[in-house]
Amino acid sequence: MAQAALSASTTSSSSVALVFDRTVERSVRGMRTSDGAGVKLTRVLGTQVLRRLDPFLMLDEFRSDEPQDYLAGFPDHPHRGFETVTYMIAGRFRHRDNKGHEGILAAGGAQWMTAGRGIIHSEMPEQEEGLVHGFQLWLNLPRKDKMCEPSYRDLQSEDIPRVALDGASGVVRVLAGKIGDVTGPIAGRETEPIYLDVELEPGGVAELPVPATHDGFVYPFDGDVIVGAPGRERTLARGELGVLAKGDGVRLRAKDGRARALVIAGKPIGEPIVQYGPFVMTTPEELEQAVRDFQAGKF
Ligand code: CO
Repeated sequence: MAQAALSASTTSSSSVALVFDRTVERSVRGMRTSDGAGVKLTRVLGTQVLRRLDPFLMLDEFRSDEPQDYLAGFPDHPHRGFETVTYMIAGRFRHRDNKGHEGILAAGGAQWMTAGRGIIHSEMPEQEEGLVHGFQLWLNLPRKDKMCEPSYRDLQSEDIPRVALDGASGVVRVLAGKIGDVTGPIAGRETEPIYLDVELEPGGVAELPVPATHDGFVYPFDGDVIVGAPGRERTLARGELGVLAKGDGVRLRAKDGRARALVIAGKPIGEPIVQYGPFVMTTPEELEQAVRDFQAGKF
C-alpha cells in the first residue's frame, strides 16, 4: 500500500502520523425524505438522529437517475440567518433569486449563498432525464452576521482548486479551507469552513489538516473509507456520516477499490439556535421578526 501523505503536509517535519489523530466518535446514517416541491433526498445531518453539528445545520444528499425524484425541483422559497452551500457531482440545476442573481449549477461546480437578512430563490433542474447527484449544506452565521446583505457566488468546476495526493493516492478538491499552499475560493467567514471532496484511488491515503478549533465530519459517498490513525481506525460505509473527535487532522484511507468522501469542518459558533424551517436565528423574537418580514415582502 502506498505510504502517502499530502505533499503539502510534508513541509512540516512534525506533521507525520501523530497530527492526523482524529477518530470517529459516532456515526449516523441519513434518512430518506423529500423537500422542495417533492424532491427525494437523503437528509444526513438535520434529523432527530443528528440534529446539528455546530456550525452546521443540515446536510442533504440528492442522488437519483429517476426524473420523478427531482423534476419538481425547489421552487421559490426564503432563507434568513445562514448560508447554503450546494455542490454538484452530476447533473444541472438553475438558481434564480429575488436579488437578480441567476446561474447554472453544473457537475463539479458549487454555489455558496449567504442568505443574510433574507433572500427568496428557486433551484430547478435543467434536465429531464439522467443522473442528478449533489449535496446541500447549511452553514450557520454568527448572530452579528445574520442580518448581513445577502450575497451569492457561483463556482464552476475549474474554479475549485485540486491538490494531488502523494503516491498517486488521489486528489482533493478544495471548496473551502487550506491544504498546504492551496486555498479554496470561499474564505473570510468567521466559522472558517473547510469543505473538501477527497477522491481516493484503491489503497490511497489522505492526511488532511483539520485544526483543533474546528468540529466536523467525514461523509463517504462512493465506496467505503477507513478513518483514523493506524490502530484507531474506523470504517465508514458509503452513506454513513462520521462525526470527528477532537484532534489536529484526519487520515482517510480507501477500504476496497476507489472511494470518495466529503470532509467538512468549521469553528463552532456556540450561540443559541432558534429555527423555523429556513429561518435560523438566536431568539424567538428574532424568529418572529423573520416570519413577519417575510410575510410583509421585506426579503
Ligand atoms: Co434554498
